[in-house]
Amino acid sequence: MYEWIKAFHVMAVIAWMAGMLYLPRLMVYHVESPVGSIQSETFKIMERRLLKGIINPAMILTWVLGLYLAWSAFGFKGGWLHGKILLVFILSGIHGYLVGRVRAFAEDRNDKSARFYRIINEVPAVLMAGIVILVIVKPF
Ligand code: HEM
Repeated sequence: MYEWIKAFHVMAVIAWMAGMLYLPRLMVYHVESPVGSIQSETFKIMERRLLKGIINPAMILTWVLGLYLAWSAFGFKGGWLHGKILLVFILSGIHGYLVGRVRAFAEDRNDKSARFYRIINEVPAVLMAGIVILVIVKPF
């Protein structure tokens, strides 16, 4: 059973990360579309669907299955696990921040530049590298 749960955990992680890497990229292009244009309205729909249809459910599944794995096999013990959970907290914080940005775009009140979204776009990738090293190498 454990291996099955882990397989579904990794599938949820892939979906979450795909969305977390793509959403700020959409916002880079969205900033460059004039307010009220067809492109801007299309980006709003793409952002909302990506968030509601993929990123939100994938994050919940990742957390639920990850916490089950951490509890059932490791009793929530291990420096690598604590480090991993910390990084996942930060990733979830960025997720929450992006929810706010989707709302701001939906109401035509974005005040951030394309450069800002380009920088934000790199953060989930860096966190993901740290998380994967911690869970697979378990360096401490
Ligand atoms: C709070 C949320 C999470 C918790 C509590 C958690 C916990 C765990 C645990 C306990 C395992 C099993 C490790 C083992 O059997 O050796 C696991 C596997 C895994 N987790 Fe997570 N995880 C979480 C979120 C994430 C995220 C966000 C990612 C990637 C960005 C991730 C990537 C992985 C990968 C790739 C594996 C498979 C490692 C292997 O080959 O054994 N997890 N997770």
